[in-house]
Amino acid sequence: MEKITLPNGLTVSPVALGAMDFGTTTSKEAAFRVLDAYLDMGGNFVDTSNNYAHWNGTGDESETLLGEYFSQRKCRDRIVLATKVGFDRHGEGQGLKKEQIEYWIDESLRKLNTDYIDLYYAHTDDPTTPLEETMEAFHSLVQKGKVRCLGGSNYDTWRFCEANAVAKTPYTVMQQWFTYLHARADIAPQYTFNEATTRERLRYLESKQIPLVAYSCLAKGGYECPERLPKELIGGERLAFLKKMAADKGVNASALAVAWMVNLHRCEGFPRVIPLFGSSRAEHFTANLRGVELTLSDDELAQLNRA
Ligand SMILES: NC(=O)c1ccc[n+]([C@@H]2O[C@H](COP(=O)([O-])OP(=O)(O)OC[C@H]3O[C@@H](n4cnc5c(N)ncnc54)[C@H](OP(=O)(O)O)[C@@H]3O)[C@@H](O)[C@H]2O)c1
Repeated sequence: MEKITLPNGLTVSPVALGAMDFGTTTSKEAAFRVLDAYLDMGGNFVDTSNNYAHWNGTGDESETLLGEYFSQRKCRDRIVLATKVGFDRHGEGQGLKKEQIEYWIDESLRKLNTDYIDLYYAHTDDPTTPLEETMEAFHSLVQKGKVRCLGGSNYDTWRFCEANAVAKTPYTVMQQWFTYLHARADIAPQYTFNEATTRERLRYLESKQIPLVAYSCLAKGGYECPERLPKELIGGERLAFLKKMAADKGVNASALAVAWMVNLHRCEGFPRVIPLFGSSRAEHFTANLRGVELTLSDDELAQLNRA
């Protein structure tokens, strides 16, 4: 996998590995197999959070498992490590106040067995704390060397802009829900924070040269298993077209969705998109990774966009 250098200076593989379920619904052995496969294929961009996956455990599991992996494999220096702060974990952790950011960064560093985070995200907006306070707290982590770059996730675009307008160190990556299928406009998303990425958001990111890290980008397994397709997404003809082109190319539909996202920046008005996906099974994960090496002509890209 050929790496790309982002405008913020981070050099990453074109797809990121999501460790959300590692240590809870994905066993340590299975998670290590997926991590090994990702690193073997040239991947280096690993995503977690200080609260993964508290709905299935305590919220410490994913970071702790990664910390153990880095120590056992002695590979921390080969990883671009992203983690997050600001979401709830069993009634604690929600918010981006100075003291919360200062507390949770040290917790993350301890669990991850490291003394720096490459990319530290605000996991979601905190409208109750002044943006100045949040951005000053993040800036001070960068000055102390605990964090290299900042990102924002689950922000409204206008709030992301306002945060950057008051920041000494701005958010240089956005993480948001994005996939090949369009979201239905007639039902509200299951969670109010995770609005699907709109064209307006994509144009904003493109104009500011801010990459989009696309989460839940494999439709929760819905490209392969129809029963897993989130009800917020429209399958229909667009899904049928993706499946047909994937079959013609000899890959699964998830891999073609990955290829579409990796190549989307070639089209006018689209930013660099980095698909972020996870799996409990190395064979699923490596099949999906085939999308990175897939060649898509301009015409095929246009057909996928139009479908
Ligand atoms: N910023 C945020 O608020 C936010 C929110 C959600 C997620 N995330 C990040 O994004 C990452 C990925 O998100 P996600 O887990 O929600 O969604 P996802 O990557 O779209 O879907 C993961 C699911 O897809 C299934 N899958 C993948 N390949 C498959 C295949 N070939 N056949 C059948 N099933 C397949 C996996 O099942 P198997 O295990 O059976 O392969 C897994 O259950 C997370 O790990 C996390 O790092 C961030």
